[in-house]
Amino acid sequence: MSILEPNSLLSVPTGQLQISELPPSTVGVDSSPIFFSLVIPTYNEAGNIKAIIRILSTLLDESIPGEYELIVVDDDSPDGTWEVAQSLMLEYPQLRVMRRQDERGLSSAVIRGWQVARGDVLGVIDGDLQHPPHVLLRLLYAIQKGADLAVASRHVEGGGVSSWSFIRRFLSRGAQLLGLIILPNVLGRVSDPMSGYFIVRRNCIVNVTLNPVGYKVLLEVIGRGQVKQIAEVGYVFCERKEGESKVTWKQYLDYIHHLLRLRLSTGYIGRFSQNFPIGRFMRFGLVGLSGVFVDMAVLYLLSDPTTLGLPLTRSKILAGEIAIFNNFLWNDAWTFADVAMQQRSWRQRLKRFLKFNLICLAGLVLNVLVLNLVFNFIIHNRYIANLIAIAIATIWNFWVNLKLSWRVTQVK
Ligand code: GDD
Ligand code: MN
Repeated sequence: MSILEPNSLLSVPTGQLQISELPPSTVGVDSSPIFFSLVIPTYNEAGNIKAIIRILSTLLDESIPGEYELIVVDDDSPDGTWEVAQSLMLEYPQLRVMRRQDERGLSSAVIRGWQVARGDVLGVIDGDLQHPPHVLLRLLYAIQKGADLAVASRHVEGGGVSSWSFIRRFLSRGAQLLGLIILPNVLGRVSDPMSGYFIVRRNCIVNVTLNPVGYKVLLEVIGRGQVKQIAEVGYVFCERKEGESKVTWKQYLDYIHHLLRLRLSTGYIGRFSQNFPIGRFMRFGLVGLSGVFVDMAVLYLLSDPTTLGLPLTRSKILAGEIAIFNNFLWNDAWTFADVAMQQRSWRQRLKRFLKFNLICLAGLVLNVLVLNLVFNFIIHNRYIANLIAIAIATIWNFWVNLKLSWRVTQVK
């Protein structure tokens, strides 16, 4: 089937789950921007798809005619949902259909749909009519009023669940509580972080790589996007009439996995580890270790009674300086080789060596200070205190040398 046929399927984006600023242009397909794109992820919803497309189209034709599109993203459902959807395309020209065969899962389906969307505002709604369609108008209204994100919530005025068992309510709230503990700044911003019914301005999630697991796309949007103002609209989560839920125990595990991943990649530790040049630091540490051996060996050669037998302090100063020289050579040739390569003149090398020396000297002073502080006030064990002092001095030496000695200067 040619892509120019009126009811051809959308091609599936590949690569990272990232939404571009402008809607992608596809040959033969109208790619002019519109106001609103609504993604409907489906898996075995053949019994619901006709009804939801009809209801949504009627609703949106009345409120924003010609300004919207519906995008069904189906994961190659065995019940042929995508085929049913495709057969509706002639009747509903604003309907587009994607059939995914190589990738699965609710969250990625939603994002793949947004990737081909032309709307300035992007949304998602379940395909099983458990999310009442008319709530969409209130969500759109909230966005028009200035919200960046409008979430349909079961836990604000007008919201609720129709007839959930105690167990399901308990699990749902338990999951929310767990989320609040792990990711308070994300889950604390909305009353129903589990909601799969929301709309968001494209510019809030543009150019960020989304990385969801499982069901909860909203966590990604709030956690990684640039969302300032959030509005919530109450809704009642309806009973399913056709088909069945795909939620299993796996979704609970996915959810916890997702929370932890978001925590690690967006929290303080995540930001720190993204900026911290861990590989360089390891090399720096290894070089430092080699320095310890050099220091020991020279100290032995100079001061041991069986060798030269020189006074201890003088020997130690010399040993220390030779170790520093050793470390400098290795760091220049290995740890920071990329930077050193760009500044190869002897003058530049000498300058680096002098800076390195001074910084290491300051590191030594810091080492002694920390050792004393820790030993006297915190842990009265000289070896543990010394380990802490060495660790802190190493980080100091690394960080300051990175910033001052081997800094990348942009000027040629
Ligand atoms: N493409 C695709 N791929 N769609 C999927 C997949 C998948 O792997 N799994 C589920 N879906 C679709 C379903 O067909 C349905 O349209 C929608 O995603 C929601 O799936 P359900 O299995 O019906 O989920 P639910 O009703 O139990 O769960 C819902 O819980 C929240 C409230 O607690 C979530 O999906 C939320 O949207 C909802 O707000
Ligand atoms: Mn459902």
